[in-house]
Amino acid sequence: MKLFLDTAKLEDIKKFAHLIDGVTTNPTLIARDAGGIGFKELIRKIIGVVDGPISVEVVSPAVSGMVNEARKYASFSQNVVIKVPMTGQGLLAAKKLHEEGIRTNVTLVFSANQALLAAKAGATYASIFVGRLDDTGEDGMSVVSDTLAIYESFGFETQVITASIRHPLHVRDAALAGSHVATVPPSVLELMMNHPLTDIGVSKFLEDWKRVNK
Ligand code: E4P
Repeated sequence: MKLFLDTAKLEDIKKFAHLIDGVTTNPTLIARDAGGIGFKELIRKIIGVVDGPISVEVVSPAVSGMVNEARKYASFSQNVVIKVPMTGQGLLAAKKLHEEGIRTNVTLVFSANQALLAAKAGATYASIFVGRLDDTGEDGMSVVSDTLAIYESFGFETQVITASIRHPLHVRDAALAGSHVATVPPSVLELMMNHPLTDIGVSKFLEDWKRVNK
């Protein structure tokens, strides 16, 4: 499973660059994390750090505006993937961009039927927001498994991104389900790395090493 970092915080992207395969941003993350850097400059800096897909979201409500924004961002680098919303206009944009050879990430997917439509539109990725589904009492991960089964059954090439990840169990379950990608906030990646028994084990080995005749 590929791991993308779900952030616009440049320091975190640099810190975890050796572990990640790409980055996903969205308008909320950019508004929160850009740290005073202008949007386009930030995207260019991220491109300079990570050699993998970098998702950048369009904000125009209609297909023509989405496609114009998409062409502009895609011109920054081959690695830019255009995030379009899971709306009628977003699907039209995904189709058009697919025909132009621009990769897309259909975002805000909350059902297997939406994911099916994203694949029909030629999306490169479909982002299923498991945490937001869980928050409403639904089972986010079952949408991931159902979508994977549908894509497998019909040979769709669209890749599932498990998104809106809240904790390490979401990452484990995404991997067990066979999700192509999990996009993980830096705080969750940090938690995945740690285990108290690892810390205890490292201290014990260091302590015992002091008693070795060197
Ligand atoms: C996906 O690409 C989104 O950026 C993200 O996972 C949104 O998650 P949230 O529910 O934490 O905002």
